[in-house]
Amino acid sequence: MKLGIIGAMKIEVEALKNNMESKTVVTRAGMEFCDGILEGLPTVVVQCGVGKVNAAMCVQVLCDCFGVTHLLNTGIAGSLSNELDIGDLVISKDVMYHDFDCVGFGYAYGQVPGMDVITFSGDQTMMDYALAAAEAVNPGHSKVGRIATGDQFVCDKERKNAIIERTQALCTEMEGGAIAHAAYRNGIPFVILRAISDKADDSAEMDYPAFEAIAANRCAAVAQRVAQKLRGI
Ligand code: ADE
Repeated sequence: MKLGIIGAMKIEVEALKNNMESKTVVTRAGMEFCDGILEGLPTVVVQCGVGKVNAAMCVQVLCDCFGVTHLLNTGIAGSLSNELDIGDLVISKDVMYHDFDCVGFGYAYGQVPGMDVITFSGDQTMMDYALAAAEAVNPGHSKVGRIATGDQFVCDKERKNAIIERTQALCTEMEGGAIAHAAYRNGIPFVILRAISDKADDSAEMDYPAFEAIAANRCAAVAQRVAQKLRGI
């Protein structure tokens, strides 16, 4: 068992890196892979950068060069649900793209031609561990459900509503779908874990800078607890 933990931004992975032991840092594809031990578990923590291409590349390097067997994505997201407030946590039951549209070509919305799935399902054991960890960190403020991914920072109501209509997702972010897609193609179990930093509407540009650090740190604390639980399997 070797866990890969991916965050898009420095703030999403910094605390985890600081808490690792026996670290070595290797640079590949412009990303720093911090290979060591987290909570007794062999783990690689990496900042992949923003967006789907960076995220997918990162997964492939984790699989090919570091031999990870499980993947966890930690980070922040915009809420798509009235029941999710800033600081709340979302665990991926499944993930899909909100910006992949080959409908005119005969595919379902979000489906990548050639793929036999429209949504990518999270691993049940990792989801269970993530939910238990989220409840320990912030009781009563976590949900398991769909996450929608696209190369867009969503900050207007119309776009937000269109994404809700097309995906029925709980939150939106910019890497999870690509991590799930690359994990699926490599046959690796994954979970996406996100803390809400904004409401993905006209208030997002105001809320995001204010709550980014709080949400990212909360998510990293949950990720670390998941590593602790995974050590047992
Ligand atoms: N990550 C955090 N907030 C987001 C938003 N509103 N849209 C896309 N990604 C995000």
